[in-house]
Amino acid sequence: MTHDQQERGELAVRDFLDYLTGLVAKRRSKLGDPEHDVLTRLILGERGGDKLSELELLHNIIFILNAGHETTTNLIGNGLYLLLEWPDARARLIADPALIRPAVEEILRFESSNQLGNRVTTASAVIGGVSVPAGTFLTLGIGAANRDPDEFASPDLFDVTREPNRHLAFGSGAHVCAGLNVARLEGRIAIGRLLTRFPQYRLSSPPIRGGRARFRGFLSLPAELA
Ligand code: HEM
Repeated sequence: MTHDQQERGELAVRDFLDYLTGLVAKRRSKLGDPEHDVLTRLILGERGGDKLSELELLHNIIFILNAGHETTTNLIGNGLYLLLEWPDARARLIADPALIRPAVEEILRFESSNQLGNRVTTASAVIGGVSVPAGTFLTLGIGAANRDPDEFASPDLFDVTREPNRHLAFGSGAHVCAGLNVARLEGRIAIGRLLTRFPQYRLSSPPIRGGRARFRGFLSLPAELA
């Protein structure tokens, strides 16, 4: 990262925090309905009296917004691109819209929006024959795991009927993605409805990939709908 890029990044975070500080103050003065408003819910705290500090509150808002927005946007973009690359899969999905459920799972596996995971070992361990001491930072290759031939038959085949499909796009264990249900729902609705309404959509100029290691998606995917 250049000095200039770092400056711009830090400025963006400060701007974002300023904006959120104002938003939180406004919401504190007039709370919303905690059943429908996430910010009100975070302000009130869920475990009787055990509330978030101001800093924890602001950083949780940033985290949830980032975790939920870009990943799902990329799920939709990656899916629409894959259905152009694999016309047979697209034709099957148009003929049988109920396939949208396994199709979204296959998009998540094939082009995982989040390619890398992170863990810190709490005890020494042997992973894949390598000894790892306690306190080691690990980067997990989610994208690679999702093409593991020991788990997935023909892993480089995009198969909208794949079953079972035990992909790791949402991670696993105690910290598995907290938004996986809403993400799946958004993916099914957005991709399913676009395909029903514009079955002939096609690229209007070459797409541009985001080019980042962790987040897989497109900067732009220009398309003609009709
Ligand atoms: C296609 C969409 C999404 C993908 C691929 C995705 C992927 C992931 C991954 C890989 C993790 C880490 C899990 C682990 O370490 O085992 C994670 C965590 C998380 N995600 Fe998502 N996510 C998506 C959408 C969302 C949405 C829509 C929300 C919320 C509105 C969300 C909120 C979170 C939160 C809060 C965590 C942290 C959970 C914890 O540490 O306990 N995600 N997500």
